[in-house]
Amino acid sequence: MFAAAQPAAPHSDQLERIQQLRQQRNAVILAHYYQEESIQDIADFIGDSLELSRKAANTDAEVIVFCGVHFMAETAKILSPDKTVVLPDLNAGCSLADACPPDSFETFRSQHPDHVVISYINCSAAIKAQSDLICTSSNAVAMVQSIPEGTPILFAPDRNLGRWVSRQAGRELTLWQGSCIVHETFSEQALLELKSEHPEARVIAHPECEENLLDLADFIGSTSKLLHYSQNDASSSFIVLTEPGILHQMRKAVPHKSFHAVPGLDGCSCNACPHMRLNTLDKLEQCLRTLEPAIELDEALRQRALQPIQKMLELSL
Ligand code: 13P
Ligand code: SF4
Repeated sequence: MFAAAQPAAPHSDQLERIQQLRQQRNAVILAHYYQEESIQDIADFIGDSLELSRKAANTDAEVIVFCGVHFMAETAKILSPDKTVVLPDLNAGCSLADACPPDSFETFRSQHPDHVVISYINCSAAIKAQSDLICTSSNAVAMVQSIPEGTPILFAPDRNLGRWVSRQAGRELTLWQGSCIVHETFSEQALLELKSEHPEARVIAHPECEENLLDLADFIGSTSKLLHYSQNDASSSFIVLTEPGILHQMRKAVPHKSFHAVPGLDGCSCNACPHMRLNTLDKLEQCLRTLEPAIELDEALRQRALQPIQKMLELSL
């Protein structure tokens, strides 16, 4: 069985140092479910993109250490401009954000001038600033449904999420053709083999997966929704089609249940997000110490990017 490689267990001295620095800095450590286990274990809060955005908007801390990828830390800065927001590794990007350059997106929008623009939160501030509404994987269907029937919609940048949302909402969407390098690599063959090894298991999937894999899923949702489903569903076995970092919280929440990660094509380890996994406990300690690398944003851009995020937060109370 394939499992994502985990770094060595952290030393208790290091955990103590991080704890002291966190207090001295009045910092909150936010972590996404795809972070390595040691970071999840030390975080103040773990969540999906929507929950992390809400937390970043409402925290009293002076410093937000965002253990996730750049667009997530950038969203935290857009929502909390007076706070210092640090990302343990500034190179932690996202293939979806990279797949949507602002200039090309502007051209795309100008080709569809009557369309409302809904962008998945996995994009840069420059794309958010060109959008009418932001969504995450947990509220994308509701965000699309919030637009009056008959209004044409552009959806960017994830074509897989867009196709799934279009089906769920019963609405035609014009899609930007981006995809996630992690979720597009799951092997259908490996999934079918796992299903025949564990015929009782429920297949649960993130909507960024390709259509042929989503067609084989019993439940589709954001990372948090997958976690909740695995806790509440009567089944005791799950085949999980998303980044395997989430398995840590699943196993902690329901240790008597079994979870099976699906390998990538040819059994590669590409189901671990190479961007998310750039963050380490050492870099986390270092950024608490130096408050670098910090996210900085042009104020005019921040204000434009804030509007569609605020609209999303208001619509998904
Ligand atoms: P969630 O919002 O479901 O946590 O997804 C974030 C992400 O980057 C998935 O690849
Ligand atoms: Fe981006 Fe995919 Fe990594 Fe999520 S898993 S952060 S969508 S590259």
